[in-house]
Amino acid sequence: MYVSIWCHSLNLSSRSLAIVLVVCVTLVYFSYSFNACLLASISRTLQQSNLRNLLTLQQRNASSEAEANRVSNASRSSNGNSNSSTSAGPSSNSSSSSSSSTTAILNSTVSNGIASVDGAPKYQMLRQQGLRPSRHLPDTLIIGVKKSGTRALLEFIRLHPDVRAAGSEVHFFDRHYQRGLRWYRHHMPYTIEGQITMEKTPSYFVTKEVPQRVYHMNTATKLLIVVRDPVTRAISDYTQAASKKADMKRFEQLAFVNGSYSVVDTNWGPVKIGVYARYLEHWLLYFPLSQLLFISGERLIMDPAYEIGRVQDFLGLKRVVTEKHFYFNATKGFPCLFKSEARSTPHCLGKTKGRNHPHIDANAIERLREFYRPFNNKFYQLTGINFAWP
Ligand code: A3P
Repeated sequence: MYVSIWCHSLNLSSRSLAIVLVVCVTLVYFSYSFNACLLASISRTLQQSNLRNLLTLQQRNASSEAEANRVSNASRSSNGNSNSSTSAGPSSNSSSSSSSSTTAILNSTVSNGIASVDGAPKYQMLRQQGLRPSRHLPDTLIIGVKKSGTRALLEFIRLHPDVRAAGSEVHFFDRHYQRGLRWYRHHMPYTIEGQITMEKTPSYFVTKEVPQRVYHMNTATKLLIVVRDPVTRAISDYTQAASKKADMKRFEQLAFVNGSYSVVDTNWGPVKIGVYARYLEHWLLYFPLSQLLFISGERLIMDPAYEIGRVQDFLGLKRVVTEKHFYFNATKGFPCLFKSEARSTPHCLGKTKGRNHPHIDANAIERLREFYRPFNNKFYQLTGINFAWP
């Protein structure tokens, strides 16, 4: 009615009104179509440029991987190394796996808009896409055990592009708890959605207050525990202490009361820490066994890919870290890495890992084994794993 009054007042016939309406509708339609086309074209261009960036990055990774394999083959042939479990796969496999991983990454980019490529350029690119990496409290902790291979475990698992770890031991739950969770989070690395934040402080395993504190942070925290024959672990612990103190007494003098081998000094740190069952019982008051993963320190040396495979499964990660990431360095006597987050060239862990141990009297060793046996059995029973320590 208002329209007809308005038309009447403007002296417009119904025919001219119809023409005006048709023109208006046509104009609206064309302007809408034009805008839609423009937006679609901008978004296509952006997507193509992101894919190109990813491809370049992945090609760079693939070529450094190929380079690493080349060094591996060279080192294998020069060492005459026959350890198949730690040697790299043939380079043809490597290049095919690189190209398939490129495809996987591109597919994941298309479906998720996020790709898991290691290294800083990733973050640059993510920022371009409007994604903001941020710091989070850890989802997973390596809680111990000291001198069992905790550094090796951390360095190996952080090869995974979906794992980001604090570089040094933060000691939040044992030394800096009063500083609060905000302080703790600030010590964590930046992550993007889907990445796991990890921290390792081996003294957590043996510090009484820690299980409850971790529980209060997050009841779902996943806990990784590397364990090793407690006698070798004690010697390793002693070796480390002796390397810092020139006039340290002999191991045999410290491990036993009164200098004879009859009474083991259970108050001496290196001996005490090896009674794993005692500490584990305390953790099990707060966390179910299903949230704990036990890694054999011995196997981590003999077959790192196997143990890291278990860790990836436990953390719900795709098995990305495999035997092709490791090579056995005969001089060092330990598995080493072709590349890591910090270095793109083959390298071993530092000098403080894999030290030569002093000679220890065989009778002292035998007595210690006898001492640990019931505690080891208890530990096997609690974990459901027979580590077969002598
Ligand atoms: P030793 O130095 O006594 O041989 P942590 O990192 O918990 O301090 O453990 C140190 C131990 O990790 C070393 O003890 C060594 O036996 C073990 N280890 C396991 N894998 C290793 C690797 N790839 N390189 C060096 N040491 C490794």
